[in-house]
Amino acid sequence: MASIARKLRRDTKTVGFVPTMGALHEGHLALIKEARKMCDVVIVSIFVNPAQFGADEDFEKYPRDLTADACLLTEYEVDYIFAPETPEIYGEGFSTYVYVEGLTETLEGASRPGHFRGVATVVTILFNTIRPDFAFFGRKDAQQVALIKRLTRDLGFETEIVVIPIVREESGLAMSSRNAYLTPEQRKKASVMYEALREAKIAFKNGERNASKLAEIVRQKVESEPIARIDYVALVNGASLEPVERIDDSEVLVAIAVRFGNIRLIDNIILNRGQ
Ligand code: PAF
Repeated sequence: MASIARKLRRDTKTVGFVPTMGALHEGHLALIKEARKMCDVVIVSIFVNPAQFGADEDFEKYPRDLTADACLLTEYEVDYIFAPETPEIYGEGFSTYVYVEGLTETLEGASRPGHFRGVATVVTILFNTIRPDFAFFGRKDAQQVALIKRLTRDLGFETEIVVIPIVREESGLAMSSRNAYLTPEQRKKASVMYEALREAKIAFKNGERNASKLAEIVRQKVESEPIARIDYVALVNGASLEPVERIDDSEVLVAIAVRFGNIRLIDNIILNRGQ
């Protein structure tokens, strides 16, 4: 991959990179479509990164189907699929990790210790290997986006991070590879997450600026669904991820994580973005 990427640079091709863990869905395809529009060459990586899974998480059973993913990608005119084996990324004696301070302790970081260290490390390795001009990430993983932007800036990567809006199922449920684990009933009920976020947005549009009150609106709506178990509801500054008390003119991320049975889902909306 590194030597192909070197050749692409010599040929002055604009390289777009979409990192994934496979189990591709419409959300990934939206990233790939945008990459296809913006770049000469599109590279998609498929690597289920062990370093970002906790010991009690779903690494072993994470959905993997390289053949189905590769078939899907041929329709999107992807130029290269980079699907390394684990030892190609984490060679023997691997001991260098990337840790982004400040942005990674809260929200997902608090619930999934070590997760963002794994993400930051693998993204650094992939960026170093490919050195893309543009890399595409989905806004569903809003905290991941914040940390990738920070590490790109801090480590001096010449990659521009392009963030693509959340793609939703008809019910409003945000697309995610983990939706595949939901039973039909859980899947139907999980749409309460987006309904709750929308209620907060409507309240905001109607003038509510108190973050606790907006969080309470989200909480009450999610709790109206008996099988939903809230992990967190948070209103934080969109860039620093610091908690906010009142909403002024800056972007505020309303982020939630909710469990349906053993399946933990995340979603978010942004206030103050004119949407
Ligand atoms: O968002 C994901 O799928 C993963 O966290 C990523 C960015 C591919 C790193 O493994």
